[in-house]
Amino acid sequence: MIKLAPSILAADMMNMGADIQKVLDAGADWIHLDIMDGHFVPNFSYGPALCARICKQFPQAFVDVHLMLDQPFKYLDAFIGAGAKAVTVHVEADGDMRNMLRLIREKGAMSGITLRPGTPVSHIIPYLDEADMVLIMTVEPGFGGQKFKEEQMEKIMRLREMGYKGEISVDGGVSMQNAHICAEAGASVLVMGTALFGAPDMKAVSEHVRRLG
Ligand code: DX5
Ligand code: ZN
Repeated sequence: MIKLAPSILAADMMNMGADIQKVLDAGADWIHLDIMDGHFVPNFSYGPALCARICKQFPQAFVDVHLMLDQPFKYLDAFIGAGAKAVTVHVEADGDMRNMLRLIREKGAMSGITLRPGTPVSHIIPYLDEADMVLIMTVEPGFGGQKFKEEQMEKIMRLREMGYKGEISVDGGVSMQNAHICAEAGASVLVMGTALFGAPDMKAVSEHVRRLG
């Protein structure tokens, strides 16, 4: 089954709790939390306090944290301690990737690795044995609402051809129009921000995703 992970970057910040309840009611599997430091990407979002608040209010939710930070190592404990169930780090960030992925697993969360659209997939291959999930970015990280880069599907196909069995998540510009392309390439999780929060019927979107595989 393909999982739907709403990116709350597209939620109404002033009504976060209600918006999260809405996507969970619509059948969302995960809640995707984009953490930005204004340096690794040219935008800011939120930190561990919001993550903790969400985990407390929605203890049943699987909170999937995507760290767009120069120094993710510094914050792993804070997010896992806040209740994150998955933590994903960028291969372009500072720090020992293998060590970070191991630490995430040791602390009981799912370990994820990700890469910018311009980074070759060969850069993450040495770490796949430590990664429970690979997140494929289909936009330049930093902002929601951008256009889906379909050529990134090659990375997913390559990983599946190599026999990678973990979760493969697609993040950026995912919509009802291209969700099937991601599923056919071998993705198992679809992150969706703008297309889900702007949809007239969220349940129809989640049912569409569920029918893909
Ligand atoms: C981009 C983020 C994405 C983004 C997805 O930096 O990692 O999670 O919020 O939003 P949409 O679906 O609007 O592209
Ligand atoms: Zn993301």
